[in-house]
Amino acid sequence: MMRSANDKVVDAQNSRLKKRRRLQFADIHCHCLPGLDDGPATMAESFALCRRLANEGIATVVATPHQLGRFEGCNEAARVREAVRSLNESLGNSDIQLKVVPGGEVRVDERICELLETDEILTLADGGRYILLELPHQVFIDIEPLLTELASMGIQSVISHAEKITPLAAQPKVLLRWLEHSAHLQITASSLVGDFGLEVQRAAWHFLTSGRATLVATDSHDINGRRPQMRAAFEHISARLGKDLAHLVCIENPSRVINGQDILPVSLYNQQEADR
Ligand SMILES: [Fe+2]
Repeated sequence: MMRSANDKVVDAQNSRLKKRRRLQFADIHCHCLPGLDDGPATMAESFALCRRLANEGIATVVATPHQLGRFEGCNEAARVREAVRSLNESLGNSDIQLKVVPGGEVRVDERICELLETDEILTLADGGRYILLELPHQVFIDIEPLLTELASMGIQSVISHAEKITPLAAQPKVLLRWLEHSAHLQITASSLVGDFGLEVQRAAWHFLTSGRATLVATDSHDINGRRPQMRAAFEHISARLGKDLAHLVCIENPSRVINGQDILPVSLYNQQEADR
């Protein structure tokens, strides 16, 4: 039987939809635990955010409540692990398909290595391989000594929402030194799509197109002003820089962080693709 042009259009749409459904993002930076920080205040709000994350296509999320800084003494590792266990238990009794693993967004502090040893702050996915570091947005601090000390413990640093740290743009040489000291830059999905204004959006794309940012995460706090935008960011990156790069920074590298594997550099990944 002859298929009409309309049937073929429908088939193509279905095939695109299937591909979209197959995307399994991993999110290494999210404030989804209830009542711990400036994320959801209640379990109902937490569930709403988790549902949105799952609908975005995120399969695994690292819960990264703020640690140290203005949350000093609030979110110790044991408390975060227990909150994650409790949220996973509740999710298991719901229709939301999402796995939550423990982590933290740790404000830079000279005691970080000591607090890791005493198990008061957390590495990403509790894996002991990567730590998510939060720097001040407006004041420049050279964290090279901290990066070196962490590297001596076998821990690589991920600098959260690099696009929002205004002084970084004026310090390209220092930033390169940090990257040589096993630091990695995470940029925020919603920054790439413009939720925080043009200046932050430009900075996010600059870090991505220059190959310095290797990870995209949602840094979501709610389903409104700070909602997860992973799928929109993936589509924007695919359109501008190609699907391979979008896959690398939104899926492959975040999954590698969660699994304790090496992060692939953007240029190396492209070269490998080109060599195929
Ligand atoms: Fe955050």
